[in-house]
Amino acid sequence: MDEKIKQALIDIVGEDNYTDSLIDMVSYSYDASEYSQRPSCAVWVETAEHVSNILKLANREHIPVVPRGAGTGLTGTATPVRGGIVLDLSRMNKIIKISIEDRLAIVQPGVVYADLEKALAHYGFFFPPDPASGTVCTLGGNVATNAGGVKGAKYGTTRDYVLGLQVVLPDGRIMRTGSRTMKSVSGYDLTKLFVGSEGTLGVVTEIILKINPKTTAATTSMATFDNLEDAGRAVSQIMYSGIIPSVLEILGRDTIMAINQNTDLDLPEVDAILLAETDGYTTGETDFQMEKIMEVFKKNNAGEVKKAKSQEEASELWVARKSAYAVLSRIKTHVVLEDVTVPMAKIADLLKGIKAISKKHNIMIATYGHAGDGNLHPQFVYDGYDPEQVKSKGAASAELFQLTVDLGGTLTGEHGIGLQKAPFMTLEHDPAAMNVMRGIKRLLDPNNILNPGKMALDK
Ligand code: LAC
Ligand code: ZN
Repeated sequence: MDEKIKQALIDIVGEDNYTDSLIDMVSYSYDASEYSQRPSCAVWVETAEHVSNILKLANREHIPVVPRGAGTGLTGTATPVRGGIVLDLSRMNKIIKISIEDRLAIVQPGVVYADLEKALAHYGFFFPPDPASGTVCTLGGNVATNAGGVKGAKYGTTRDYVLGLQVVLPDGRIMRTGSRTMKSVSGYDLTKLFVGSEGTLGVVTEIILKINPKTTAATTSMATFDNLEDAGRAVSQIMYSGIIPSVLEILGRDTIMAINQNTDLDLPEVDAILLAETDGYTTGETDFQMEKIMEVFKKNNAGEVKKAKSQEEASELWVARKSAYAVLSRIKTHVVLEDVTVPMAKIADLLKGIKAISKKHNIMIATYGHAGDGNLHPQFVYDGYDPEQVKSKGAASAELFQLTVDLGGTLTGEHGIGLQKAPFMTLEHDPAAMNVMRGIKRLLDPNNILNPGKMALDK
């Protein structure tokens, strides 16, 4: 980093909050995706004013700035592809306020999801999205990517809970969006524009989140299927039961085998397992809902259908489910995880298509995911040092995106576009929509300093 710029950054954040050491630059070159590129320096910011002053400087000098939380993103959103400054927000980690009467929590972006969960549990409340990386990911990252998780089927994603934000714009202006009210139609919905904008439009420095009372009872069940498409059809037909499960997850055969290799769960190694949870306030109520769901499983040729006997057994299943990405990562040198999402009625078609693509390109695609909201996680497991497999992976993922869009689906349900899906944006979005997105980016960030190179906005 240029000496003058380095000194100016140190003047803003202080000596202890600046680094350009090689070891830090290597650490900051990665997030959880397959991409990496070193930045020139990183700064830990502690206030919105720090962020504002850094952005003013970067904007004047045309230096890229990449905001970063815990770096758990899977699509390259936090990778500094054009070098520059990494803005690490993890030290802005205060829960500013929890107001039960107002049904909200106000937090800084560096608060870890699980820490808010713990604080809210004290009041019998929760913030529902429940991403698999919840023990480490930060709420700023959840907002930036509009993160989802296993509770999406009933409770939606981060965007459904963000009431307002404090955002620092690329030119350093500090702006508030939204309000502390449960509803508002005052002006354009700037809050929703920033949720999911992947750090390309502004840096979020404060978040107002709607919170929910926590239910006190749950029933968990498991159903096995000898045929993946039967499982897909069972998911689509659950709506006929009149019940919305709080969780409805699917595990394909490769995923089940990987979980078995890493736990004592001894899951049946069938084509597919559906895991369902119903929630409420009494077990009578949650069992009643589960019976209806289990009837749908049986009608769709489920083999074994059984309820978890205890809360411990249920928790073990959920921990195992959340470990899917990690246990599949141990099989070969490389993994890439997708999060394609289709209308609920098309889940069986998507499952069938993934199987065909895997066979055609001779590449392992393990599938699991949030079947309850149409969001599947085909995970490519391959040897990234073998050029043939890299080529197959590229061709297979292009086909997967085309299939998803043909089924009326979307490239990403919860991980975001980042670098990974940028080349496919125009498959999903028509030229007018791309033009509007790029126009918004130019309006707010004319010098393209904020997280450049992401989301196909540079064109
Ligand atoms: C999951 C994450 C990786 O659902 O999205 O496991
Ligand atoms: Zn997921």
